[in-house]
Amino acid sequence: MRTLFASVLSVICIASVNYGYTQTAAADAPYRNPKLSADARAEDLLKRMTLEEKATMLSGSSWMESAPIERLGIPPIHMADGPLGVRSWMGSSAITNSANNPVNIESTSFPSGIAMAAAWNPALVEREGKAIAEEVKALGRDMILGPTVNINRQPLWGRNFEGYGEDPYLASRLGVAYIRGVQGEGVIPSVKHFDANNEEFERHRINAVIDERALHEIYLPAFKAAVQEAGVWTVMSAYNKLNGTYCAENDELLNKILKHEFGFKGFVISDWGSTYSTAPTVNAGMDLEMPGGAPLKAMLARPQTILSGNNGGWLEAGKVIAEVKAGHITETTLDDNVRRILRVIFLSGIFDHPHASGGLVDTPEQRAVALQGATEGIVLLKNERRLLPIEAARVRSIAVIGPNAAVARTGGGGSSLVRPKQATSPLDGIRSRAAKDQIAVSYALGVGMEGEDPVQDSPEAREKARDEAIAAASKADVAVVIVGRYFKNESEGFDVKTMYLPTGQDALIEAVEKVNPHTVVVLNTGDPVTMAAWLDATPALLDMWYGGQEGGAALASILFGDANPSGKLPVTLPKRFEDSPAAANYPGRDLTVHYAEGIYVGYRYFDTKNIEPAFPFGFGESYTTFAYSGLKVTPHVSGNQPVEVSLQVRNSGARAGAEVVEVYVHDDHAKIDRPVHELKDFARVELKPGESKTIALMLDRAAFSYWNPTTKAWQADPGTFEVQVGASSRDIRLRAHVVLEQ
Ligand code: BGC
Repeated sequence: MRTLFASVLSVICIASVNYGYTQTAAADAPYRNPKLSADARAEDLLKRMTLEEKATMLSGSSWMESAPIERLGIPPIHMADGPLGVRSWMGSSAITNSANNPVNIESTSFPSGIAMAAAWNPALVEREGKAIAEEVKALGRDMILGPTVNINRQPLWGRNFEGYGEDPYLASRLGVAYIRGVQGEGVIPSVKHFDANNEEFERHRINAVIDERALHEIYLPAFKAAVQEAGVWTVMSAYNKLNGTYCAENDELLNKILKHEFGFKGFVISDWGSTYSTAPTVNAGMDLEMPGGAPLKAMLARPQTILSGNNGGWLEAGKVIAEVKAGHITETTLDDNVRRILRVIFLSGIFDHPHASGGLVDTPEQRAVALQGATEGIVLLKNERRLLPIEAARVRSIAVIGPNAAVARTGGGGSSLVRPKQATSPLDGIRSRAAKDQIAVSYALGVGMEGEDPVQDSPEAREKARDEAIAAASKADVAVVIVGRYFKNESEGFDVKTMYLPTGQDALIEAVEKVNPHTVVVLNTGDPVTMAAWLDATPALLDMWYGGQEGGAALASILFGDANPSGKLPVTLPKRFEDSPAAANYPGRDLTVHYAEGIYVGYRYFDTKNIEPAFPFGFGESYTTFAYSGLKVTPHVSGNQPVEVSLQVRNSGARAGAEVVEVYVHDDHAKIDRPVHELKDFARVELKPGESKTIALMLDRAAFSYWNPTTKAWQADPGTFEVQVGASSRDIRLRAHVVLEQ
């Protein structure tokens, strides 16, 4: 012990002699001047720092704080988990007070990322980012750990609900919007998890083996857009290995691709406990390890911890300084790490204006954003015989049934789970809306959520619950069955076991449908589920995902037609898990998962290989109808000239509604194998009955390009491309051609 202490001391002393600081922090030092640029201030401040101070900044000081340097007035960055609001995890928040005790945070619970993605509304996601940032500040924090932009590669990832679905273009648009909303408030976002965190299975050890083309076309674009379009301030590395090397010490990923190729100027932060070495990690481009070793050890000691196998503390000052002294880390590298962190501290404004807690959270405005997201994100998958919307003239009684009916299942589990002040369950939402029309509402559990309550799981309790549901359904004009999962069986930390609904839920739907032909099934889950047992017999089907605290109110407004469904699937819903392109290569063997499907993820696979999904990417019905016409596309372009696309969309039905128009590009002359088409733009348009609007879009050369692994560059082969405009990836309504010249 004494020897260790002595050697650390001697390292620090030598450091002070060799690299010692020359100045104390004068009040008029340039870095304190808010009129100077963040770069100039960071540069000035860096010069005043000792080696020890610099090294100290590379590792967190507590679970959710970076290290402050008091002598120079460098504040800690107070972080908060996200991305779906300010987190409260497993009943207690990981945010700590000054005594390092966890504090419970209550804040607005926004819809899951997959629900927001289903709204296809970047402007709304930007407002969500702004609202979350306001809450972050109100709670005295500076940084929100989101957005999650990892691609939904396969249906069982425990965190699919957090991200924006299977398409890199859609994920890019929404990630950029979220970041803009957050940064606009002077709050620091962290786009995560870089890269290829697409399963939770062995997430601390799994090696994702991905070919270069899939990496660039599918798994990197949302991060690239975050850097190049939103100028994101931080990027969080993933736990897993990528092509043999942990992401946190992956020079190719962090230095070459992120910092050099994309031009990232912010700092890279590790995922919590995802560092495994000192010099290789710093040299690969990791700037800030979170948390520090001590907080990580304290966390690992807690029961229920979802971290495993790593004691952290790799970037603690003593270890970093020793590696600098040994010549394994240069001071230039260390300066680069610290400069990046300082720059963000200045850019965000937290150096000059620290955020004080005590502001308002869960305001009517913030709640309104959550409600709009939950509503626009609901996807109407089936509506035979116009069962929906529920109209008082036809319907006098509703039986609300299911394990997700009376509880507000706001989100999946893990670090994104928010504890809201209030949340509306589907049953509460339906009850209060039905009361306005004096429609009677009855409720029956139907079946307990598997594993949630052992009493409900007993065979006797199950039989009783089923009988009650059948009785309620047979007496009602309409039955609404709300099924799905919840934060303990769909979560960060482990994958969903199967695509089937939890035990008893399929049988419940079948039993209800036998006694009531007017049954509406509502899915309340982030991951796709197998619907084979009941889909054909189901007249109406909605996917509400996890809708956050306003999910129940949003569902009621859709069921009763106060809002017209406008959500569209951001992910293909396969009929069964075996149909997924990743099925043969999931979860992997010997701690290695080969992404053998390459670029054929989601609809790129289903549409190219002609495999019938349960519901295709981009699909969603409405209570009205839309007519597409008049597609015009620039016939010839050369160089960097963009392709102009325009068309008319008309609301040809009787209700106001919104349509998401999707633009795909088809390339049939490429020198390389390409999917049958790829989403390259979209527009969400609100239309009154009979109203028509012109949609004008621009496709740049990137929309026609693929990643060429030989030249290691994006390439568009000159020739004829088809521009397809549709209401889903399988409902292309208009086509036109453009010739791309050199
Ligand atoms: C998660 C991150 C999260 C971090 C901090 C990790 O386990 O993967 O998404 O931000 O914990 O709670």
